Amino acid sequence: MQRESRKVSRRRFLKEATGAVSAASALTILRPGWVRGAEKEFGVVVLLGPPGAGKSEQSRRLTARHSIPIISTGDLLRDQVRRGTQLGLQADTYMKAGQLVPDSLMNPILEDRLSQPDCARGFILDGYPRTLAQAESLDALLKRKRLPPHIILLEVPTERLFKLLTGRRVCPRCNRSYNVYFQPPQKENLCDADGTALVQRPDDKDEVIRRRLDTYQKETEPAIEYYARQGRLVRVNGDQPPEKVAGEIESKLASQ
Ligand code: AP5
Repeated sequence: MQRESRKVSRRRFLKEATGAVSAASALTILRPGWVRGAEKEFGVVVLLGPPGAGKSEQSRRLTARHSIPIISTGDLLRDQVRRGTQLGLQADTYMKAGQLVPDSLMNPILEDRLSQPDCARGFILDGYPRTLAQAESLDALLKRKRLPPHIILLEVPTERLFKLLTGRRVCPRCNRSYNVYFQPPQKENLCDADGTALVQRPDDKDEVIRRRLDTYQKETEPAIEYYARQGRLVRVNGDQPPEKVAGEIESKLASQ
C-alpha cells in the first residue's frame, strides 16, 4: 500500500476518532495523548503476524526505544494460568489445543489492562486482534481513547516459523525469550539475565504449532485483510535478523 493512501486512511481514522473538522485539527487535539518517542510522537502500535513471527521480540525493542508498555494478550492469559484463576483454567484448555480463547474471556482481561494508567498515552499490542470481530472492537475502543493505531504485519515464511517456535525457550522468571537455533543463551539452557533454567512453552510442540498456524490462517487472516482493505496495513519483512526487522519497523513508523 502506498504511503500517501496510508496517510489518508490514518487521517480518516483520526478524524472519526475526534470528530475533528480537518486532519490537522485532529492531530492537534490528539497530540496531548500521544507519546513522544525517540524520534516522533505516536499512540498505539499493533503488531500482527503468525505464531513465531517475532512479535514479542519486536515489542521488547519498541518498548525500549519509545517507553510505552507492551500489552501481550498471550502473556496476560499465561499469567492467569500461572495464578490458577478460574479464567486461567478455562483459557488453558484452548491455548493447549492451539485454539483462540473466546472473546468472552479475552476481552474483559484486555480492557481491564488497557484501563491502567500506564496505557493512557499509548501502548504496543502483541497478539491482539486475532479475529475480524476483535479488530472491529479494537477500532471502537481506540476511537474512544483517541489513540490512533499503527498496524504492523510481520511477514515470515511458514517453513521458518516451525524452526522459530520449536527452538524457542523462555525464562519462567523474567519471561525473556531465546532460540536454540538463532538466539541461544550464553550458557546452555540458562537465562542470561538471572541464570534460571529455561523452559519450552507447552504450545510450542509440533502438533500444537500446526493447529496454531491453521487457526491463524482461518481466523486472523480476515482481520489482516480488513486492515489491508482500508489501506492501514504496514508490511514488514520479519525474515531477517531481529535488529534489521526493528530498523524496518522504525523507518516505516517514521514515514507514516
Ligand atoms: P501468543 O503468546 O500471542 O502466541 P503467538 O501469537 O502464537 O505468538 P508467539 O508468542 O508464539 O510468537 P511471537 O510472534 O511473539 O514470536 P517471538 O518473538 O516469541 O498466544 C498464545 C495463545 O494465547 C494463542 O494460541 C491463543 O490460544 C491465546 N491468545 C492470545 N491472544 C489471543 C487473542 N487476542 N484472542 C484469543 N486468544 C488469544 O519469536 C519466536 C522465536 O523466534 C523466539 O525464540 C525468538 O527468540 C526468535 N526470533 C524472533 N525474531 C527473530 C528473528 N528475526 N530472527 C531469528 N530469531 C528470531
